[in-house]
Amino acid sequence: MLLARQVRTIDEMTDMDTLPEHVRANREAWDRYAEEYVEPGQRHWATTDITWGIWGIPETEVRLFPDDVSGQDVVELGCGTGYVSAWLARRGARPVGIDNSPKQLEAARGFQREFGLDFPLHLENAEATRFNDASFDGAVSEYGAALWADPYAWIPEAARILKRGGWLMFLTNSPLVIMAIPDDGDIEAPAGTELLRPYFGMHRTTWQGDSSVEFHLPHGEWIRLLRSAGFEIERLVEIQAPAGATTRWTSIATPEWANKWPSEEAWVARKRG
Ligand SMILES: C[S@@+](CC[C@H](N)C(=O)[O-])C[C@H]1O[C@@H](n2cnc3c(N)ncnc32)[C@H](O)[C@@H]1O
Repeated sequence: MLLARQVRTIDEMTDMDTLPEHVRANREAWDRYAEEYVEPGQRHWATTDITWGIWGIPETEVRLFPDDVSGQDVVELGCGTGYVSAWLARRGARPVGIDNSPKQLEAARGFQREFGLDFPLHLENAEATRFNDASFDGAVSEYGAALWADPYAWIPEAARILKRGGWLMFLTNSPLVIMAIPDDGDIEAPAGTELLRPYFGMHRTTWQGDSSVEFHLPHGEWIRLLRSAGFEIERLVEIQAPAGATTRWTSIATPEWANKWPSEEAWVARKRG
């Protein structure tokens, strides 16, 4: 047991040395954040009612998953605590969760034991995975690679590991909210009504006082990138917070703000057949 643990640690260290700087920074950050995600992770694992994003929009309303995923091999890119994979497993899919944070994967393994569900979980960088070409029927990311990995690397990688006709769904912050959140060192200050960051050229995004690295793109650039990687875009769902919605993520946007403007969005695409 001790030997196995040591071998894994050496693996992780070797892996660390070869990772791009932002992936290393995000691994350290997510190993630190992991504890905060245990409670929401458990809540999401415990429910069969699928909801998305910071406003808990029901899947029955937005239908971001294909109608029938049974028997499909689906990879979750940046699975965190693994609840999206758990939802897929309960719908009859064969999910595989990958994540860049050993601590997040540890939590996901704990939930697998607690809820009696088993699927593969791997420590991987979504920008360059060890999967063979055309391994999966679907790929999903809810605020995982979609936000924390470089889209110029992870989108082509998702295309590579998907089969022809395979689906991709990812949900992340809207570029609008990213332009409207102040970056003045107050990490609790939500989006206001002024545009504070440039839209053109939006890509690698950092915040004062936070060592993690995010990635956001303007819509035209998402469209260009997805199409050039071999995807057809089926839908862009701009998510509106319902009146009276609540969120623990008041540091991103207030419900009133997100009822007027999209704070998050989901892209649904399919790899060309
Ligand atoms: C907010 S969590 C999202 C997962 C899940 N929906 C949840 O809320 O638990 C973000 C996850 O993305 C992972 N992540 C960040 N960069 C990644 C990368 N390059 N490859 C794979 N996972 C990554 C982090 O380690 C973290 O667990």
